[in-house]
Amino acid sequence: MTLLEERMGLDEYIRELREGFQVEEEPTLEFKLTSSTLTRLLQDQELLRRILELLAHDIHFVREQSANLFKNEVLLWRDPDGCFSLRMAIWAADADVFIHDHNAMGVTGCWFGKLLVENYEIKEYVSPERVKLELKEKLVLDPKNTVYIRPQDAGIHLVSLAEGEFAVSLSAYARPIPRGYLRKFDPKTGEISRIYHPTRQQKSWAARLLEILDKS
Ligand SMILES: [Fe+2]
Repeated sequence: MTLLEERMGLDEYIRELREGFQVEEEPTLEFKLTSSTLTRLLQDQELLRRILELLAHDIHFVREQSANLFKNEVLLWRDPDGCFSLRMAIWAADADVFIHDHNAMGVTGCWFGKLLVENYEIKEYVSPERVKLELKEKLVLDPKNTVYIRPQDAGIHLVSLAEGEFAVSLSAYARPIPRGYLRKFDPKTGEISRIYHPTRQQKSWAARLLEILDKS
């Protein structure tokens, strides 16, 4: 446990979540316990305030967030053994809003404001890069409401601000299936594109550039 997690008051929650995420299969009793820890986290408005103060005033904390996949995502904890991560996201008008999948199952809840969650289903793979997508359900999450996220094809969704200026989500994700990217879906054409973590993209560009330099 580092000083930052103690300063944020996350240490007790992290211990509970680590226990809950030891089971990595389908939602089980243990996973529901994880969800109950998340529900208690969602009631902790003081924690939300402390994190927002770090984001607003601590340049080191802000810089740590610069390599996240979504620009509105804040990584609160990634467990050292990789069994789970805890992430919040700030939803405003210019947040990263698009239909995507995840590589892990998880629980997402509303910490502030109102969140819109749209769940999609793949009706057909037209090609490996194109699908026919159908909107399955539309949910509005009020504070403390949670939903399960399923990995890959089973959990394609879009999250956005349902109303007002801001909403905040808090998500706990289990150990990811190693794939190295998320998929983004175009709602009109069904076209699939890959979203790589910025550091992974840079790593792969650098490796390719080195090959080119070696040949020249
Ligand atoms: Fe998501």
